[in-house]
Amino acid sequence: MKPVEDLTDAEAAAELERLAAEIAHHDRAYYEQDAPEIDDAAYDALRRRNLDIEARFPALVRADSPSKRVGAAPDTGFSKLRHRVPMLSLDNAFATEDFADFVARAHRFLGTSGDLPVVAEPKIDGLSINLTYENGVFVHGATRGDGTEGEDVTANLRTMKSVPERLSGASPALIEIRGEVFMTKADFLALNERQAAAGEKIFANPRNAAAGGLRQLDPRITAARPLSLFAYAQGEANEQVVGTHWAFLGCLKDWGFDVNPLSRLVRDEAAAEAFQAEIGLARSGLDYDIDGVVYKIDDLSLQRRLGFVGRAPRWAIAWKFPAEQATTVLRDIRIQVGRTGALTPVAELEPVNVGGVLVSRATLHNEDEIARKDVRVGDTVVLQRAGDVIPQIVSVVTERRPADAVSYVYPALCPVCGSHAVRPPGEVVRRCTGGLTCPEQRVERLIHFVSRAAFDIDGLGEKSIREFYEAGWLHGPADLFELPAREAEIAKREGWGRLSARNLSRAIEAKRRIPLDRVIYALGIRRIGEANAKLLARHYGSYAVWRKGMADATIIGSEARSTLGEILGIGPAIAEELVDFFYEPRNVATLDELAAKLTVEDAAIPAAADSPVAGKIVVFTGTLETMTRPEAKARAEALGAKVTDSVSKKTDLVVVGADAGSKARKAAELGVTTVTEAEWRELAGMPPPTA
Ligand code: IVH
Repeated sequence: MKPVEDLTDAEAAAELERLAAEIAHHDRAYYEQDAPEIDDAAYDALRRRNLDIEARFPALVRADSPSKRVGAAPDTGFSKLRHRVPMLSLDNAFATEDFADFVARAHRFLGTSGDLPVVAEPKIDGLSINLTYENGVFVHGATRGDGTEGEDVTANLRTMKSVPERLSGASPALIEIRGEVFMTKADFLALNERQAAAGEKIFANPRNAAAGGLRQLDPRITAARPLSLFAYAQGEANEQVVGTHWAFLGCLKDWGFDVNPLSRLVRDEAAAEAFQAEIGLARSGLDYDIDGVVYKIDDLSLQRRLGFVGRAPRWAIAWKFPAEQATTVLRDIRIQVGRTGALTPVAELEPVNVGGVLVSRATLHNEDEIARKDVRVGDTVVLQRAGDVIPQIVSVVTERRPADAVSYVYPALCPVCGSHAVRPPGEVVRRCTGGLTCPEQRVERLIHFVSRAAFDIDGLGEKSIREFYEAGWLHGPADLFELPAREAEIAKREGWGRLSARNLSRAIEAKRRIPLDRVIYALGIRRIGEANAKLLARHYGSYAVWRKGMADATIIGSEARSTLGEILGIGPAIAEELVDFFYEPRNVATLDELAAKLTVEDAAIPAAADSPVAGKIVVFTGTLETMTRPEAKARAEALGAKVTDSVSKKTDLVVVGADAGSKARKAAELGVTTVTEAEWRELAGMPPPTA
């Protein structure tokens, strides 16, 4: 390639034209077709070359120059829309027992028994979408995004026949309609034929084609891509029109939506099982891809009582079709070190196609699993993939075992840092004892730290973390906030440029202000996932209070220690992990160094901030008659209360059920307010119990 200084005006103009076309092509491949043709470094090199030429020949900058589109890359080319009610995911079932568990859990939560009618809907493999209607008129629609906010694809949705512009008949003044956008197999094949004839890109599957169609910046292109929609749920609504999901599907049809015609109301578990089998058989003959059946408890008042746990509703489950299997050869077993030091064996495989996806790696879980299956290097193994889970090795085809294959010996030393790897009695996981001296643990912690549910720093993924770690710039998370000071140095690195370095600095600076629960989650403490981090943040409210609570909790027998163990959902085992983390002076130093660079936002009081029990510490005691204990607790927490198990002078309210004993007495002694179950229902805004 000619140095920029040596280019003539004509050569520069020709090259800028070529670069504009080339970069636009790769943008489409990456953002619209989800099928990049070159890696990030090669792409960045194109962009850098473009910038360098433009810097030297400012008069030649084109109207369609890629440099004018930076910061408005197609995935930010759409503005964001916040969903009024988050779009969540579903728990999975794979067998009859899992479905029975789902029903049993719901019954336990509700304190009910007997048949539980559910609506069954084929689970389309498409993209979920949220459509907002005001006074019956379609106002905007968004992709699922991260569940809280998605991309505003209103203009594209308006081109779809199955998205009504106006709801027919009466409808709530405000309603969010959810459904799945997909492409039929016939439309997909026809589209690919047209694409091929026009010399354009061929799509790998209907889902990719639908995603590409919906995320077009030019709605005219979307209009030429045949997209369909099945509606299946509601988000926010200012009024409840019906009492069952089945009746709601009827409303959707009346309003003008397509509802999957195979949907059915099933009365009991046997009927669900029969339906699952029936759809499994019909699957290959359908004109759209499905990967299972979604079952939703029909009674909407029960759905409201059941609510959510983590990111999934207690009232619905996705029963997936059986996993697809294939056989291949195990080339090697590699040991990965995770951020908590856990050694995880990974199978390196001869690449093989399993249900449409090329698989070259599978998890082997842990050393017991390898021993139990007697998996050896060189073995032919049966692989399976179910849904989006990581491929697994089901079994070994022993007849095909090479004569010289030997039993696998699990390492007793960390393969990265050489520290002893120990396995505490009763646990399945062997862990590197190197802690923060183990380079891999440090890197993994940093990767976790910037990940989506943690600090979510745009443009800083595993690859760059490893790069900066190797450069010696990152020791702990606090160092990330020193990267902007190295912007000029970063810009000069291979694969980086002025713009990408500047964007990185901005993305980092933007995260100096951060919610408390993200900070807690980002630390990567064992067993502190997103849900537990939220519980902790909600309980302690502010960084200062949490930090002090944790320090105090390291004292055995302290009140802070028992408070921690009593937070509903935390419990003593998780409390122990937290205490262990805070025992370690290096962890505390790392945290303090980090906190000094941040403005940590207090945890918002969830749901109804105006609820009379928000922020109150509540204890339930005795037998509750109109709701189960888990239901009462979940409801209290949804209203922003903190539920604990024992009464102390900090307790604000004790709900006294029938036959209450010592806790009710203690409340009286301490002068803590007590209420009856009926009074609690009123406080919590729960409807009077139905007979
Ligand atoms: S209901 C809170 N119904 O599955 C429950 N989801 O794993 C929200 N999906 O993101 C989902 N068909 O994209 C529901 N009939 C159906 C569905 C369905 C497909 C997808 C949807 C969702 C994912 C959850």
